[in-house]
Amino acid sequence: MKGIILAGGLGTRLRPLTKVTNKHLLPVYDRPMIYYPLATLCRAGFEKIMLVTGGNSAGDFLRLLGNGKEFGLKDLNYTYQDGEGGIADALRLCENFADGERICVVLGDNILEDDIGPYKRAFAEQSTGARILLKKVPDPERFGVPVFDGTRIIRIDEKPVVPLSNYAVSGVYFYDQRVFDYIRNLRPSQRGELEISDVNNAYIEAGDLEYDVLTGWWTDAGQFESLHHAAHLVGLKRGFREPLTCE
Ligand code: G1P
Repeated sequence: MKGIILAGGLGTRLRPLTKVTNKHLLPVYDRPMIYYPLATLCRAGFEKIMLVTGGNSAGDFLRLLGNGKEFGLKDLNYTYQDGEGGIADALRLCENFADGERICVVLGDNILEDDIGPYKRAFAEQSTGARILLKKVPDPERFGVPVFDGTRIIRIDEKPVVPLSNYAVSGVYFYDQRVFDYIRNLRPSQRGELEISDVNNAYIEAGDLEYDVLTGWWTDAGQFESLHHAAHLVGLKRGFREPLTCE
């Protein structure tokens, strides 16, 4: 299984912090935001990783992360997303990298406490399909929100005005190779983006989406409040004594 980090976009919700730099290079407590999704993947044993960047300061990722050796990676690849086509549009650029293998996608502004190793193993045991990770949150309207029939997810609503559950779909997704076919069939949403929730809805329609509920804390860091909250969680509850690498 290969790992993919999506770190494109213009970070407009964090302006002026993102006026001259990329959102994923901003500090979260004591390290750049991009270190966290990278550590999430390499802690779970991913050795081949693709980083999709975009917007401002794309070259700075290379200066910061180099060939990934510092993180114990065998292979760190880079590509560039033009414009703001959305998460699924960024993922589309990774089809050759995936080369028919299963993938784990992590959004570059998602920071989580859990080791995703157990979820990766659960996905490896699925014969086909997708697996997503949920977390109960006080503000589901900011996220993709699963709609349940009992314990089964029947739909995911992207940023609904009236959320039908108290769960957010976190930015960690496991997909089989069909994901790229589903992306090819997507139409842009009202905000003009190819939505990852529509990819997940395609798997739901195919009856092939499983999920886990995260046990540890989880946050995005893409808005002022959540960026501040992320630094607080990392600094006070976890990160400040951890080594930089994930070996
Ligand atoms: C994206 C996804 C959303 C998901 C969230 C997790 O939202 O569209 O479904 O719940 O990431 O962080 P965005 O941050 O692009 O608004």
